Amino acid sequence: MLRFDEITKSFGANTAVEAASFTVDEPMMIGIIGRSGAGKSTLLRMLNRLTDVTSGEITFEGQNITNLRGAAKRNWQSQCAMIFQQFNLVPRMDVVSNVLHGTLNRRSTLATMFNLYPDDDIHRAIDILERLGIAEHAPKRAEALSGGQQQRVAIARALMQDPKIILADEPIASLDPMNAQVVMQSLRDIHEQDGRMVIANLHTLDTARRYCDRVIGMRDGKIVFDGTPAQLTTGVARDIYGADASFSEATTSTEIETNAAAQKLLAYAAAQ
Ligand SMILES: Nc1ncnc2c1ncn2[C@@H]1O[C@H](COP(=O)(O)OP(=O)(O)OP(=O)(O)O)[C@@H](O)[C@H]1O
Ligand SMILES: [Mg+2]
Repeated sequence: MLRFDEITKSFGANTAVEAASFTVDEPMMIGIIGRSGAGKSTLLRMLNRLTDVTSGEITFEGQNITNLRGAAKRNWQSQCAMIFQQFNLVPRMDVVSNVLHGTLNRRSTLATMFNLYPDDDIHRAIDILERLGIAEHAPKRAEALSGGQQQRVAIARALMQDPKIILADEPIASLDPMNAQVVMQSLRDIHEQDGRMVIANLHTLDTARRYCDRVIGMRDGKIVFDGTPAQLTTGVARDIYGADASFSEATTSTEIETNAAAQKLLAYAAAQ
C-alpha cells in the first residue's frame, strides 16, 4: 500500500536521504532508528510532504503523492497526520480546542476564526480524549498538562483527522520512561484497534523492539536495515549506529550524539 522508490533528498551538496526504497503491504507499526543526522526526520517529512522530494517516487494505495500540489497535497497531508517531539500544541488554548484544530484543513477560515465547531466534532473530540484516558483534562489549558498528557492531546488532534497513517517524529524523546510507555502503548492501540499505519522515529532500540512490527535502520541517509525486531541483533544495531566496540544494548542515538558533543566540548576546552 505504501512504496518508497529510490527516494533521495538533497540540501545543496548535503544528501540527507539517499535512494531509500521500501514497501509496506499492510498497515503495521514501523520504527525508524539511526543516529542523529541519519535522515529519519527527513524521511518522514517527505512522506507527508512537509519537505519536497529531490528524486524518486512515493506512492500510497496506487496514488503517486510525490508531486501533489495545492488541495491534493493538503488532502494527502490530512491522511497522514504527524506528531512531534515537542507536541506542537497551542499552550494557552484549552485541550479540546487543541484537538479540534485537527479538523482545520476541512473548515472555512471564518468558522475557525470564531471557533465555531460543529457539535459532532466536539463530541468526537471528547470521545477521542476519553479513549486516550485524558477526557477529564478537556477544559484545561494545554500548558497545564504533563508532557505525557500533552503528547496524548497531540495524538488526539491527529486522530481527529481520521488519518490512514500516523507519523511520529521522536514522540517520546522528551518524556520520562513512564509517560513514554503510555504514549507508545496509545500508538500501538491505535494501530491494532483502528488498523492505521504508524511510522515512528525512535531514539531507543528497546522501544523499537518492544512496540514495532518492523524496524528500519538508517545510516548516513541510507536504509541499512529493514526487518523484524527479532532480526535486529546487537551486531546489526551496532552497524546501524556506526558505533565502536563500546556500543551497548542500552545505547541510543541520543546518547551517542551527547557523547560526541561532550567529546567536542572536551577537545575544545583542551585546546584553550
Ligand atoms: N532544512 C534543512 N536544510 C539543510 N539541511 C538539512 C535540513 N534538514 C535536515 N538537514 C540535514 O539532513 C541530514 C539528515 O537530517 P535529519 O533531521 O533527517 O536527521 P535525523 O535522523 O532526524 O536526526 P536526529 O536524530 O538528530 O533528529 C542532516 O545532515 C541534516 O543536517
Ligand atoms: Mg530527527
